Amino acid sequence: MGNLKFLHVKKKYPGERRFSVDDFHLEVNDGEFLVLVGPSGCGKSTLLRMLAGLEEITEGEIYIGDRMVNYVSSKDRNIAMVFQNYALYPHLSVYENIAFGLRMRKLAKHEIHEKVIRAAKVLEIEANLNKRPGQLSGGQRQRVALGRAIVREPDVFLMDEPLSNLDAKLRVLMREELTKLHRKLHRTTVYVTHDQIEAMTMGNRIVVMKDGVIQQVGTPREIYRTPLNVFVAGFIGTPPMNLISGTIRTEGKCLLFETRRCTLQLGSDKLGLLLGSGYSSRNILLGVRAEYISCVPAEEGESSERALGGRVDLLEFMGSDIFLHVQNEEFRLIARADPIHCPVSEGDAVHVKLDLENIHLFDPKTEERIC
Ligand SMILES: Nc1ncnc2c1ncn2[C@@H]1O[C@H](COP(=O)(O)OP(=O)(O)O)[C@@H](O)[C@H]1O
Ligand SMILES: [Mg+2]
Repeated sequence: MGNLKFLHVKKKYPGERRFSVDDFHLEVNDGEFLVLVGPSGCGKSTLLRMLAGLEEITEGEIYIGDRMVNYVSSKDRNIAMVFQNYALYPHLSVYENIAFGLRMRKLAKHEIHEKVIRAAKVLEIEANLNKRPGQLSGGQRQRVALGRAIVREPDVFLMDEPLSNLDAKLRVLMREELTKLHRKLHRTTVYVTHDQIEAMTMGNRIVVMKDGVIQQVGTPREIYRTPLNVFVAGFIGTPPMNLISGTIRTEGKCLLFETRRCTLQLGSDKLGLLLGSGYSSRNILLGVRAEYISCVPAEEGESSERALGGRVDLLEFMGSDIFLHVQNEEFRLIARADPIHCPVSEGDAVHVKLDLENIHLFDPKTEERIC
């Protein structure tokens, strides 16, 4: 069985003061595609290497299936790892590269042949079996590395940034292929990346990490729609979530969000929650994604002096989207617009409207989500 359990796992490297992985506590279902994502140095590889048995666990326990593996050697964990550098043997053919581990395990010749051919079919590299790695493109080499992992029929696949050596176009293709491969094989996969797009597109669930600590665990939708803190809101999504700092005030039954130059009336659904949690008259961070901001030329907007507005100082054409960078004396926002019907041009003064159903409020001190 390929379900995994991490019980309060910690890692401190010898001589280091800080934990590189701190209290990682999570269960992974059999067959799940779990993505660990976070900036460089946040402890992703360290966690993967502890799971692989390549790094000692300082505290806590790791289970693969029902077996606690803390003291089980790497080769006895029934896992297969795929790295960023494919670590292929340059002097061996593709066939022999894929067969290598099976030969080491002294499998019968016909059994090895069957497995290699089956993996080659799954990966569509049958035509390359007699070539050497040097004769292959980056994507083909990555497939050979995957082939080597597949023939081992592991309970768990571990992948550490396996696509980051590929150019952008190939990365997108291989991303799709890995997802399809997972659907064919249904094996538990723990996939490490610093690329939030890979995380969003590939993961059944995503674990967002920072400084060795889990920030949030959830499906791509949950993480995108309900980020639990400012870090996750900024890390997941392109462009990052817009954040505006202001204060909360009530006026009668109205809930107002005020910055120095603008006032927004927020929905009353948030009123009870904010007041109950003591946020009245306190600083707050308002978050809103680019797709929930619309801009219209200033003359068509509200005439109120304290309306949200600014000047478009940059238009970024992305193909299917256009990003409007709006600047005023206080803050900067990025709004998404439809390039075909973009109502404003660079340099225009604009009025900005937020979809108040889709705003997020964060505590500026703890940076945690309020609602
Ligand atoms: N062998 C090591 N000795 C000491 N510190 C290490 C070692 N490997 C990694 N680290 C530190 O642990 C932290 C996490 O590293 P790593 O797991 O490689 O992060 P990521 O894979 O997310 O980029 C970093 O601060 C890194 O410097
Ligand atoms: Mg790493």
